[in-house]
This record gives sequence, structure tokens and C-alpha cells, in this order.
Amino acid sequence: MDHIHRLRCFGTIPKIPFLLLLSLLLFSFVNASFDLATIPFNDGYSPLFGASNVVRSEDGYGVQLRLDRYTGSGFISSSMYQYGFFSARIKLPSNYSAGICVAFYTSNGDVFEKSHDELDFEFLGNVAGKPWRFQTNLCGNGSTNRGREERYRLWFDPTKEFHRYSILWTAKNVIFYIDEVPIREVLQSEEMGGDYPSKPMSLYATIWDASNWATSGGKYKVNYKYAPFVTEFKDLVLKGCSADPIQEVTGTKSCSDQHADLEAQDYAGVTPMRRLTMRRFRQRYMYYSYCYDTLRYPVPQPECVIVPSEKQRFKEIGRLKFGGSHHRQSRRRGRTTTPVDHTDQGDM
Ligand SMILES: *[C@@H]1O[C@H](CO)[C@@H](O)[C@H](O)[C@H]1NC(C)=O
Ligand SMILES: *[C@@H]1O[C@H](CO)[C@@H](O)[C@H](O)[C@H]1NC(C)=O
Repeated sequence: MDHIHRLRCFGTIPKIPFLLLLSLLLFSFVNASFDLATIPFNDGYSPLFGASNVVRSEDGYGVQLRLDRYTGSGFISSSMYQYGFFSARIKLPSNYSAGICVAFYTSNGDVFEKSHDELDFEFLGNVAGKPWRFQTNLCGNGSTNRGREERYRLWFDPTKEFHRYSILWTAKNVIFYIDEVPIREVLQSEEMGGDYPSKPMSLYATIWDASNWATSGGKYKVNYKYAPFVTEFKDLVLKGCSADPIQEVTGTKSCSDQHADLEAQDYAGVTPMRRLTMRRFRQRYMYYSYCYDTLRYPVPQPECVIVPSEKQRFKEIGRLKFGGSHHRQSRRRGRTTTPVDHTDQGDM
């Protein structure tokens, strides 16, 4: 399962509570839903591994991926797409989830071993009472030595209900969404060159045991006493031009109408209102960004948009200066667990 191991999850013991009423209010005004056509699982996807742990829902529109002591599981889109909108409503495993990685991503690593493209959401489980955290990343043409990770907390409990996670990918931009909130946008530019994903990719979803390094660098392993770990996907969306990765050129030509259609969608650009929510999300919930990691990248990567109010929150290693901006609010809300521990700012 090479493509799985290429994904690098990150390990931390988070200490900051994340269910803040305030933020619910902040994000709730972006309530215009996207206009999305969902498809039955069998119409667009098939099991990738651990088939016995890929369990379709009765109505055919949903699927559970399970991890037990024998195997994790995953599914893959039946086609590859050159540009697209890849989306699902996802509920993450509840209870003790240390060492577990759930990934929702696009990749062509099976076809282009040395020059693959990839766009990732990676969710990492945690010890009891500590929230899931997640990261986004992208690479193009095998640019894995120039990692572009960002890590965040969430403003809700992702194990309690379904939320929509989406990846928009056009020739012009990439946008990661949670529900209708854009959390990260990367604009294509000449300076980025081949690092911007450009070849057809498949959509993947996986759950697997990342005990070796997932939570606090491997300190907390998957505990199979709590198995099976179940993550649920529904209301799946695959919108894009299906393209043969080898005959890319013909693919591109016949795709032009679909590209235009994709770029005309509501979600293809960040409106001023949504840009405001993106800023708010990043100010409050992002705790690592490669753009502010000046030890790793003395000159920021060309696509980085340096926001001064964001930058001042980060140390030169790209991590938050303080244990997070929320511990005060959260204590007021009566939180009883560990307040601040400066060691847990998202070690890889
Ligand atoms: C979580 O754990 C509790 C107590 O062990 C159990 O009752 C509950 O069913 C578990 N929930 C899930 C979704 O596994
Ligand atoms: C992709 O990388 C290869 C080297 O691995 C390089 O020869 C090629 O020019 C790159 N393509 C683009 C579009 O940058």
C-alpha cells in the first residue's frame, strides 16, 4: 500500500478545546450551500484495500471505512480526473482514536511514481478527550521535498456529526473547504512551476493504523480494545473531467467545456465574504504553516500569502508563539483538562 505510506500524518497531543460557541456564530453566516450533485458509491468509486472493511450503506449513497486489528480500508475513484471538485460528508471515528489516520485526498502516485501530484486532507486521531487535528498539503510533479503542510484545529467535534470536506482543483487555483468555509487557497503561478498539481488524479479515502508516528511521534498506539474504528462517508461528489493520465493531451482538449463549467461554479473562487471567514478560520485554528516556517524556508514558497496579523502569531519554526490563542476563553468555559503544554505544537 505504497500510496498510503507516502502520506505523512502528524502527531500531537492537542490541549486546546475546540468547541467554541463564538466560532460557531462566526462561521454560521456563510450558510449558502453549494449546489452539488451527489452520486451513489458504486457509480464513482470502488474498494481499494481491506474490502471486507468497506461497508456500503443500504441506500447506496454512503460507505463506512473500518479499521480493525487485521486491516484498515480504503476506496478510490473509478476514474482519474484532470481538475475537479472532490467532496464528501465525513464523520470521524469517536472514542479513543490515537494512532489512527483518516485521509481524503487526490493523487496519481500509482501512475507517476517519481513525479506524482497530490492534494490532501489528513485527519489524525488522539487520546481520549483530546480533539482530532488535521492537516492539508499539496505537491506537484513529485515535489515532496518541498512540503507545504498546514495544520489546524476544528471549530466542531468531527466525530459527532457529518461535515463536508472538499477539494477544488482547477488550472488556476486549489481551495480546501470545510462545509462552505474555504480554509486554504493556493493560486497557480509561473513561479510555482511544476510544484502546482497538473496531471490527472484519482480520489482516495483511507483509514489506517499510523501507530508508528501518528500521535505524539508514536507514543500512543492504536488500541484495538476500541476496534473497529469506523469512519463514515456520504453525499459523495465527483465533478470533473475524467482523463487518461497517459494520453493527457487529448484528455485536455476534450475537457475544455468541463473545465469552463467547473470554473463557473460558486465554489471555484473565494468571494469577499468567504475570504473573511477564511481569514477568521486561519487566525483562530491554524497552528502551523510552512509559509511562516522561516527556519525551513528562509524565503517563503512563491505561492505563500503572508498576512501580517497571521504572521505575528507564529514563531520562526512556523508554530504558534503561545500555546494557542484560546486557552483563556476555554478555561472560562469550565474546561478541566491540561491547560498549556508548549511541547505539543504539532511535531511531525
Ligand atoms: C464509545 O464508547 C462508549 C463507552 O465505551 C460506548 O458505549 C459507545 O458505543 C462507543 N461509541 C462508538 C461510536 O463506538
Ligand atoms: C518535473 O520534474 C522533472 C524532474 O523530476 C523535470 O524534468 C520536469 O521538467 C518537471 N516538470 C515540470 C512541469 O516542472
